Amino acid sequence: MSLPTPSTDPHAALFSPSLISPSVLAALPEGYTCRPLQRADYHNGFLDVLRVLTTVGDISEEKWNERFEWMARRGDEYFLLAITDGTKVVGTGALIVERKFIHNLGLVGHIEDIAVAKDQQGKKLGLRIIQALDYVAEKVGCYKTILDCSEANEGFYVKCGFKRAGLEMAHYY
Ligand code: ACO
Repeated sequence: MSLPTPSTDPHAALFSPSLISPSVLAALPEGYTCRPLQRADYHNGFLDVLRVLTTVGDISEEKWNERFEWMARRGDEYFLLAITDGTKVVGTGALIVERKFIHNLGLVGHIEDIAVAKDQQGKKLGLRIIQALDYVAEKVGCYKTILDCSEANEGFYVKCGFKRAGLEMAHYY
């Protein structure tokens, strides 16, 4: 089966905007919004927001478009969202939906790459990102959502309703 060809419209959404929580939209500061990632976010500060989290590298627009299209073809798996202040991206987060055989073909949501621009932290935008991703996870049928974080961020995720479960282990390549 061939995968759908994604739109080349720079403002086409990575996933359906109907999956954006109305209560998150209502709770954002005035002028801010929450929406699916768009191809045009390459020019809107999205990568700079990710730089508060970790190394991003020097990504060309061509490579960005390639990766965006790869994700867009998997429209029911990659849910990356952007919080904007009306012009630029000030926060982001991702939900990746894993399809399992266990738990009766269960779906597990993985929360990844949560970041809020330094000068925008402390305005509850991180909380809104998590609430927005939780909403997507529930809507698409995940039975749970999990994430890995540092000890320094545990308090934030506890405030977002998560609880410690298990232990992260890693192999780096
Ligand atoms: N430890 C304890 N509590 C915290 C922390 C923390 N590190 N950060 C925020 N909180 C609390 C806030 O005080 C607030 O509490 P309150 O409701 O009592 O007032 C609550 O959590 C919500 O805080 P927000 O204002 O929503 O947090 P913010 O918008 O600043 O975003 C975030 C938090 C995402 C951790 C931000 O500081 C950030 O981008 N940090 C750098 C990148 C990073 O570490 N991202 C997480 C990586 S883990 C992952 O991606 C799965």
